[in-house]
Amino acid sequence: MKAAIFHGPHQPLTIEEVDIDDPGPREVIVKTAASGVCHSDLHYVDGAWSFDTPAILGHEAAGIVELVGEQVTYVQPGDHVICCPSVFCGMCERCMTGQPYACDREAVTRSAEEPPKYTWNGQGVAQFAHLSTYAEKMLVHENAIVRIREDMPLDAAALIGCGVTTGFGAVVNTAKVQPGSSVAVFGVGGVGLAAVQGSLVAGARMIIAVDTVESKLAKARELGATHVVDASSNDPVQAIHDLTGGGADHTFEAIGLKLTVEQAYEALRRGGTATVIGLLPAGEKVEIDGRSLLDEKTLQGSSMGSNRFRVDMPRYIDFYMQGRLKLDEMITRRMRLEDVNEAFRAMKAGEVARSVLMFD
Ligand SMILES: NC(=O)c1ccc[n+]([C@@H]2O[C@H](COP(=O)([O-])OP(=O)(O)OC[C@H]3O[C@@H](n4cnc5c(N)ncnc54)[C@H](O)[C@@H]3O)[C@@H](O)[C@H]2O)c1
Ligand SMILES: [Zn+2]
Ligand SMILES: [Zn+2]
Repeated sequence: MKAAIFHGPHQPLTIEEVDIDDPGPREVIVKTAASGVCHSDLHYVDGAWSFDTPAILGHEAAGIVELVGEQVTYVQPGDHVICCPSVFCGMCERCMTGQPYACDREAVTRSAEEPPKYTWNGQGVAQFAHLSTYAEKMLVHENAIVRIREDMPLDAAALIGCGVTTGFGAVVNTAKVQPGSSVAVFGVGGVGLAAVQGSLVAGARMIIAVDTVESKLAKARELGATHVVDASSNDPVQAIHDLTGGGADHTFEAIGLKLTVEQAYEALRRGGTATVIGLLPAGEKVEIDGRSLLDEKTLQGSSMGSNRFRVDMPRYIDFYMQGRLKLDEMITRRMRLEDVNEAFRAMKAGEVARSVLMFD
């Protein structure tokens, strides 16, 4: 099969012919239909985070089940599925106490003694996020997929695999935004736009989108933001305090910068909660004014929208089908696997809400 190989930071991915192993007893081969390009992959290409090489990146996809291992009961060939990096074992302490997205994943990962899932030129190729979606096929554990209704378009479904689940879930699962709340979302790329839409569904009264790119702010307005702040020419903290009359109930950081995490905290009212979604470069620290702790503000992270993806994703699909979650509007460009480096360039240049790589 064709796959995009990651060779290390600051190098383009190359399209190669890669061998895929047979599924183990609880594994599944999914034929990739569409893969979104999320900024988390770009962090590895840019060298902000590091990963084994060679590897196949990509972690936001939907497809059709092709082959199942002998013990798989959850799906059968032909089923439409979304893949999720939050593969869960269902047995560990985190899984058993309501945090399956924080699973230790030991029981659902091949050990070093087992054959690699992918090989290229006789060497093993690392799987990224338990998925590796920049490939024509994916070899995944059955607990990394959710079966979905077949009338759901697979390109829109792909976005749910990471960006939508992360942004929407941060609002409804992690922060539990209440109707009537004031919300500010820092960074309205793919993940931030999903947080805007989650805030709308949750009944937020004010949804303030903050970005430095004019076209992103226009898209955020189209998808539900009630106010926008251009951070390239305004101080977003001051603007949010002015708009809300004292600070937002909830802020979300969907960029991954020290500066904007600190701004998200400072833009809160007393007792407000800042939820950080963006991935900061490895080792980066954030600073808050110690005295402001007296204001009982909360600074928390959100991993993959604190999802229970087999419950959440079918709900997001129903919202989409009802017109309450706009996904087609988030797809700026449809491209091919060969265009993955161009998709990274366009994301960096701020030209796209999301690019989706389409497979036959
Ligand atoms: N926590 C998780 O589980 C999780 C999951 C997925 C993605 N992420 C992370 O979320 C972040 C966003 O991902 P994405 O795919 O939406 O990226 P993206 O590139 O599509 O969006 C980022 C947005 O931030 C804007 N921006 C950049 N600098 C800014 C500034 N100083 N002030 C205001 N806006 C600014 C950009 O214009 C862009 O619109 C990334 O760091 C990604 O790695 C985290
Ligand atoms: Zn992602
Ligand atoms: Zn577990």
